[in-house]
Amino acid sequence: MKIVQIGTGGWGKNHARILSELGVLTAICDADPQRGKEYSEKYSVNYYDSVDKLLDSEEFDGAFVVTPTSTHSEIATKLLGAKKHVFVEKPLTYKSEDGEKLAKLAEKNKVVLTCGYIERFNPAVDVVKNIVKEKKYGDLVMLEFHRENRMPLHIKDVGIIYDTSVHDIDTANWLFDEMPNVVFARSGKIKHEHEDFASIMLGYKDEKIAIISSNWITPKKLRKFNAVCTDAIVSSDFITQEIIVEKQDETETVQNEKQEPLLREIQSFLDAIEGKSEHIVKSQEAVNVTKIAEAALLSSQKGVPIYLDLK
Ligand SMILES: NC(=O)c1ccc[n+]([C@@H]2O[C@H](COP(=O)([O-])OP(=O)(O)OC[C@H]3O[C@@H](n4cnc5c(N)ncnc54)[C@H](O)[C@@H]3O)[C@@H](O)[C@H]2O)c1
Repeated sequence: MKIVQIGTGGWGKNHARILSELGVLTAICDADPQRGKEYSEKYSVNYYDSVDKLLDSEEFDGAFVVTPTSTHSEIATKLLGAKKHVFVEKPLTYKSEDGEKLAKLAEKNKVVLTCGYIERFNPAVDVVKNIVKEKKYGDLVMLEFHRENRMPLHIKDVGIIYDTSVHDIDTANWLFDEMPNVVFARSGKIKHEHEDFASIMLGYKDEKIAIISSNWITPKKLRKFNAVCTDAIVSSDFITQEIIVEKQDETETVQNEKQEPLLREIQSFLDAIEGKSEHIVKSQEAVNVTKIAEAALLSSQKGVPIYLDLK
């Protein structure tokens, strides 16, 4: 299998490393020649400074698009149009209607299109998903997510809802196994061009709730969540991957092997290309996350709940 890496910035350099280790990295494409050449030399693969040149000269099966959000739609349209399997980093697109177009194009051209909602590949989320599915501690009633980290000012194209809260929106949908029907949010900005703190409330059927709080202001990197079930609270940390269950009279630590989520995510995409696995984020699920992010931004601007009817 031949895979190309588009974008080798802060995040994409990790994909390049893993793809090289898996023996499938064929070429690097980055608009910044210094960066692109550094990684093409490091991994001994071809370098291109544009997607057009890459498509003209390189034979490959699939591509990772790890460029800024504002570029996803244009780059993915070219790749899907050329019948390549495509993994786009989150969020799939800035506008949900562009995401819908990508999903339709992938379906028409019979190729895989997925999006980098990496927490689905976090082993700790797997454990919580199984606990919820098996109703080990009763019914899941509420999810609470808390993500914070002081962020540099370099993300200019989107604010915290599209960049950061989307991870928790997708994880909430995944754990509840359904889409929310209402969104209410408050957000504001202190240091960045767009909103840099937000609290989002997602309403699911039977009055179930996910509360997502994110900020780019406070200095500590924190990524935690609680799944409040009728018989216990299951708490986890996306970074340490530890899981604690608090029951009426005892607190239990769930044993779990720590693994790199990005490696599991990349392997799942490669398996999906070969038809060996269906454990990937479906393109419609990724479009829905963008729709929810759009609704959250609108809700915080208007100060009203936004009702949704998602597929
Ligand atoms: N899943 C995660 O946990 C996670 C973490 C960080 C970033 N991301 C996502 O990854 C993407 C990239 O983020 P980043 O922090 O690496 O950004 P970055 O700015 O550090 O890097 C982006 C790279 O893309 C290149 N680029 C820009 N436009 C291009 C084009 N048209 N063609 C080819 N190359 C182009 C730039 O030169 C740069 O090297 C974003 O969508 C972001 O949301 C995901």
